[in-house]
Amino acid sequence: MSAKKPRVVADSPDMMVLEFLADRVELLPWEVTVSGADDVDGIYTYSHPHTNGAIMDRLPGIRIISNYGVGVDHINVKDAADRGIPVGHTPGVLNGATADMGMALLLAAGRRLADGDRYARSPQFLVHDPGFMWGHEVHSSTLGIVGMGAIGQTVAKRAKAFDMDILYYNRRRRPEAEEAVGATYASLDELLAKSDYVMLCCPLTAETQGLIGAAELAKMKPTATLVNIARGGVVDTQALYEALRDKVIWSAGLDVTDPEPLPRDHPILKLDNVTIVPHLGSATLQTRSKMAENSVENLMRGLRGEALLNQAPVL
Ligand code: DGY
Repeated sequence: MSAKKPRVVADSPDMMVLEFLADRVELLPWEVTVSGADDVDGIYTYSHPHTNGAIMDRLPGIRIISNYGVGVDHINVKDAADRGIPVGHTPGVLNGATADMGMALLLAAGRRLADGDRYARSPQFLVHDPGFMWGHEVHSSTLGIVGMGAIGQTVAKRAKAFDMDILYYNRRRRPEAEEAVGATYASLDELLAKSDYVMLCCPLTAETQGLIGAAELAKMKPTATLVNIARGGVVDTQALYEALRDKVIWSAGLDVTDPEPLPRDHPILKLDNVTIVPHLGSATLQTRSKMAENSVENLMRGLRGEALLNQAPVL
């Protein structure tokens, strides 16, 4: 007789995850977090569903919450810690892909890739005009990185190859980044005032929620670009819309928005000086495979009561 499989609530896992989970657990629909059940062993989160103490209390048997991704702002890690439930996540494996996306958005927003593409396809493009669609230099400009963790540092390495000067703002100084890429620590105000590109790479926490609002955008250069590869909630969306509309800043490149997705009729979607992709920072086959593998490994370890590959800290 085969042993009973652990029962795990999951929100629509993708095919890759299903492959890793096949035969190892019994998957239950997310609705069980609403109805509650005594015999659920774990939670697997994939598309950022809100997971708080009330949900944990409705599933009193859970021994692990495993998240497919590094950012766990949608999970109340403190509530989990208070209940002795470890939260697994997948840092490290996505640094390269996410930093690549940061640079892609920086280049796209600074050099007008998306509106250039739209124009090149349009009936308006009849003759090349050297006076149109100027952007701003990327090479030899100044990049301000907000949040100099692993992803911020990976961005800094790439920016160095573009001969950019690098400023950074972080909760604490990062001497290793200063040494590795010659990054200079700055206050947030100084970074905003001096940077040609500001890239947000910090986690979303109570401290960083709404960090970039109207006042901060007004401190940026009118020629500057804001890139967000962190979380939408780090930026006040209405303030960003107004700053882009009124040319308080030059442009923005967004991997994430608040809310996500934006309402289809949101006015920011009508602006040409914003490039938006639908949260694709880590979306490569290679990186998503590693995230799927590590998050399932965390799940299985948690179910067995073993130490996780990576346990998310309470921030
Ligand atoms: C992450 O890993 O946090 C990415 O944003 C995907 O969710």
